[in-house]
Amino acid sequence: MSQPDQGADTAPVQPTDPVELLVCVKCRRGTEIPEDGERPGQALFDALAQRDLPDGVTLHPVECLQNCDQGCSAAMRGGADRWTYLYGNLHETSHLDLLVEGAALYRDTKDGLIPWRTRPDHFKRNCIARIPPLAATAPASAAAEPNEA
Ligand code: FES
Repeated sequence: MSQPDQGADTAPVQPTDPVELLVCVKCRRGTEIPEDGERPGQALFDALAQRDLPDGVTLHPVECLQNCDQGCSAAMRGGADRWTYLYGNLHETSHLDLLVEGAALYRDTKDGLIPWRTRPDHFKRNCIARIPPLAATAPASAAAEPNEA
C-alpha cells in the first residue's frame, strides 16, 4: 500500500522480498498431447529457464495451477505483503518477454499491484485470479484496482 507521507506514488519503489515466478509444467493448454509429447507448460518453463530473469526473481515449476482451459499459466508471488497474481493464455514462444518484463514490474512493487498504466495488456486481459497477501489485515477493497472494475 502506498504511504502518502513517504511519497511512494512518485518515488521509485525499492524491491523488497524476492519474487517467485511459478509455471505449470503439466499444462496441455486444453489440447490432447501424446504421452511422450512435450506439454506446452513444460515448453514455457524450459524457454523461461533459458532467459536471464530480473534480479530477485526465481523460476519454479509447479503441478498444477488448475487453469488448463486458459493455459498456459503462470503465477507471481513474493513475500507477505504482495498480492499473488495468476495469469493465463500464455504461450511458450510469444510471451517470454512479457513474463520477464512483467516479473520485473511485479518485483518493483511493494504490494504486487503493477500500476494500471504500466501493466502489460496481456496481464490486464488475462488475469485469472489475484490472492490477497498473507499480511493483509485490512479489507480487500483497500487494495482495489479502480481501473479493473
Ligand atoms: S495442467 Fe496445470 S494449468 Fe493446466
